[in-house]
Amino acid sequence: MAGVKLLAFAGSTREGSLNQRLLDVAAEMARAEGAEVTSIRLRDFDLPLYDGDLEASAFPPAADELRRLFIEHDGFLIASPEYNGSVSGALKNAIDWVSRPRPGESLVALPAFRGKVAGIMSASIGPFGGLRGLLALRQILGTIQTLVATEQVLVPLAEKAFDGAELIEPLPKQLLPLMVKRVIFLAERLRP
Ligand SMILES: Cc1cc2nc3c(=O)[nH]c(=O)nc-3n(C[C@H](O)[C@H](O)[C@H](O)COP(=O)(O)O)c2cc1C
Repeated sequence: MAGVKLLAFAGSTREGSLNQRLLDVAAEMARAEGAEVTSIRLRDFDLPLYDGDLEASAFPPAADELRRLFIEHDGFLIASPEYNGSVSGALKNAIDWVSRPRPGESLVALPAFRGKVAGIMSASIGPFGGLRGLLALRQILGTIQTLVATEQVLVPLAEKAFDGAELIEPLPKQLLPLMVKRVIFLAERLRP
């Protein structure tokens, strides 16, 4: 059987993002475990702020493209910064667009999310590692029928947690492979 297909993206769009760095480590790990990982950057998708009128008149091609990518994958690896106690606006906006039904589709079909698995992680410059952001992300994904792996990875004081591209902080370093393996395990079993 072919490896599971995972879509990897971060909730931070900035160059030098600590969350992107964490995500890249997770994506490499998943590839080493046999998953097929597509790494994308949300900044490469020209997504306007969600607007119902825009949706009705001119559904953005970038939202359609992102939606198609979500549909094509069995699960997601998501690293999001915590912004004021929740997920980043960029991440929420992307999820909102991707969750919208296209003409003729049921509101609850949610083909981009239903039956898929997510592994979530957060890197923060603060001491709590973005825990509140991940609680919010877990709730958001659960609402749209994505199963979030119980394992999650927090990297507090993240500016000191990496040596270049390598994650060196012992606890998240131990937790990351557990989360990645769980996502692959679940995605293999949930795949239609
Ligand atoms: C608008 C804004 C709000 C933030 N709020 C929080 C917060 O609630 N908790 C936290 O731990 N860090 C917070 N931070 C700091 C982020 O942890 C820090 O900027 C981090 O580096 C962002 O992730 P990135 O490196 O992937 O861009 C906030 C940063 C911004 C820009």
